Amino acid sequence: MSNNDLAIVILAAGKGTRLKSSFAKVLHRAGGRTLVENIVRTCASLKARETVVVVGHQAEQVAAVVEPLDAVTVLQQPQKGTGHAMQVAKRALGRAKFAVVLPGDAPLVRTETLKALVSAHRNGNAAATILSAVLADPSGYGRVVRKSETAVSAIVEESQLTGEQREINEINSAIYCFTLEKLWPALAQVKPNNTHHELYLTDAIAVLNSKGDTVLAQVAADSREVLGCNTRADLAEVDRLFRERKRNSLMDDGVTIQLPETVLIDPEVAAGEDTVIEPGVQLLGKTKIGARCTIRTGSVLTDAILGDDVIVEPHCIVARSRLDNGVIIGPFARLRPDNHLKAGARIGNFVELKKSTIGEGTKAMHLSYIGDAKIGTKSNIGAGTITCNYDGFHKYPTSIGNKVFIGSDSALVAPVKVGNGAYIAAGSTITENVPSDGLGIARGRQVNKPGWAAKKRRELAAAEKPKKAARRHNRKPRRPTKRGKRK
Ligand code: UD1
Ligand code: MG
Repeated sequence: MSNNDLAIVILAAGKGTRLKSSFAKVLHRAGGRTLVENIVRTCASLKARETVVVVGHQAEQVAAVVEPLDAVTVLQQPQKGTGHAMQVAKRALGRAKFAVVLPGDAPLVRTETLKALVSAHRNGNAAATILSAVLADPSGYGRVVRKSETAVSAIVEESQLTGEQREINEINSAIYCFTLEKLWPALAQVKPNNTHHELYLTDAIAVLNSKGDTVLAQVAADSREVLGCNTRADLAEVDRLFRERKRNSLMDDGVTIQLPETVLIDPEVAAGEDTVIEPGVQLLGKTKIGARCTIRTGSVLTDAILGDDVIVEPHCIVARSRLDNGVIIGPFARLRPDNHLKAGARIGNFVELKKSTIGEGTKAMHLSYIGDAKIGTKSNIGAGTITCNYDGFHKYPTSIGNKVFIGSDSALVAPVKVGNGAYIAAGSTITENVPSDGLGIARGRQVNKPGWAAKKRRELAAAEKPKKAARRHNRKPRRPTKRGKRK
């Protein structure tokens, strides 16, 4: 169905006092995105003529999130309630006949649910259709007061409930579809008759009903979709549900996730069939993982691109790096941004990489720092190798060819080049280029002195003898013990 006569209005001007935060409520995050971004993205599939976001608190920051997603913003200053926010949005709605109105703090709603709401509204010729939900604990929400099976007479806010109404467990999600030519005159009649002196959009429902207009309520099939984020506990629950959805969709695509509730995955992450994700893993940003990979426990991958059959051993950190087919890293490897590990490369424990290319089949297995380096194929980087890429002012590159052997505990002072097939002797500090197939050795020459240690021990023992004798001579007579005195 075309929605060319429909506008979306997202009310996102409020501060969110109950969160006790210096950030506007809609900028808080759940499921890896800000609340308001989640909602704008969900609404995008409705293909409405316009998406209008009402902003107020931290308006610039909220606009910076939604405007790149093709939403327009209108400023509500000061914020005098949800009804007032809707009035402020009026001028931006153009010739739309209907509006879907959503709060900025209930991001779990699904596109299908919104589509069904719009259909129910159109088919019922209603002035307003409320998305409601039945909750075991409705406290904190406005309640839907029905006058018949199908029709609604009012929404009553928690603070204004009568004793009897308190028993109602059908709540207002604050997501509605309105026929705008009916809404505007009704809203004009709403008065700020509440302790906050705000204009409540919810009060327009009773006005519409009193005019004889039709107000419907559509009960959400899954009540969790309407959870609002008014407190930190609400935020945690909404985040949990988003994460669960994401994990379930990856599992549906053939990914194994062990102890899924311990695994945190951002919305844009993808993973191929038969990949295994162990407990306590975080996959963040735009991470893309191929088929048959294993991401072992405690690893955190951000914007990482992995080919097929990659193994990330426990407790690795990977940021914005590419790992081609068959690469193995860790345990305890740290990949800072901009590395490219080519097929079959191996990076072992306590190895840190930054802005480096590691050629096919090359290994750096233990305790190294490799930064601003290009390493060819099938080279071996010994334990404790360091590229000294920084002189306190500038960064310099290190270039290591194919089939190079770097002995343990070598320092490569950049800029420096080691040619194909070269050897570096262990413990060298390399400050000059090493030619292909050559040996670079840069360390003090070893001298062995036979018998030196034995002679030294004899001398020390001889010097010790007279001292011991003197100590014995000067010793004071022993004092009797306490026990001895009492006797
Ligand atoms: C609102 C509904 C309540 C419903 C609940 C569902 C009203 C009066 N009450 O209550 O019936 O059960 O949502 O979650 O609408 N906002 C503005 N400008 C304002 C005031 C608020 O843009 O002047 C925005 C807020 O940023 C927020 C949304 O409107 O995104 C809803 O406001 P909030 O304070 O969260 O209302 P609730 O008390 O949750
Ligand atoms: Mg709310």
